[in-house]
Amino acid sequence: MVHPIEQRPGAQQWVPERGGLRALRTAVADCRGCELWQDATQAVFSEGRSDARMMLVGEQPGDREDIAGEPFIGPAGRRLDDALEAAGLDRNRLYLTNAVKHFRFERRGPRRIHDKPAVGHIDACRPWLAAEIAAVAPEVIVAMGTTAARSVLGRNVRIGEARGTVLESSDASATPTVVTAHPSSLLRIPDHAARETAFRAFVDDLRLAAEVTAE
Ligand code: URA
Ligand code: SF4
Repeated sequence: MVHPIEQRPGAQQWVPERGGLRALRTAVADCRGCELWQDATQAVFSEGRSDARMMLVGEQPGDREDIAGEPFIGPAGRRLDDALEAAGLDRNRLYLTNAVKHFRFERRGPRRIHDKPAVGHIDACRPWLAAEIAAVAPEVIVAMGTTAARSVLGRNVRIGEARGTVLESSDASATPTVVTAHPSSLLRIPDHAARETAFRAFVDDLRLAAEVTAE
């Protein structure tokens, strides 16, 4: 299916200016900022507290998240939980969200296969994330994967080059931002030792972010 660009006005006109996270969570259900709402079950907003000091940003909801309406509850979420535990972070104290709020997928028979959001989807959905950053005002953002990094930093970065340093979000808040791999990329590495190394690097990035909030 071809979706012409005029079907992507961007989310801004659906984003309420007042009412904080509660208003955002309600309003996102009606967003028509791009065409991804059409095939998804529902918009998946965030999990977590408005007073969180750390905000974690993923890519988009997966199959399980799309059905349940909650972020990071599937396989990538479990890997994330392992890493949070290894880094000594409590998921209940964080704010967890995604760069894109609707699940993009391809149908293959009865299965729905994850499809990476296009740049146009990331940019269309960005007003939601910008509003979340404004509402939560985290001390640090962790952008997990290239989609999150593009949304938070407003430009394309390579994970390998960006990780290990503290960057700044491109919105007015210029929030300190740590870029890292996406937790689902950790699941796809076939070699056991390489997978463990990648997991440890991910945990190190979470620790770096934790240090920023401790300063
Ligand atoms: N992957 C993501 O990026 N976000 C989720 O919520 C689940 C899987
Ligand atoms: Fe709106 Fe984002 Fe969903 Fe597109 S993906 S319809 S911009 S909430």
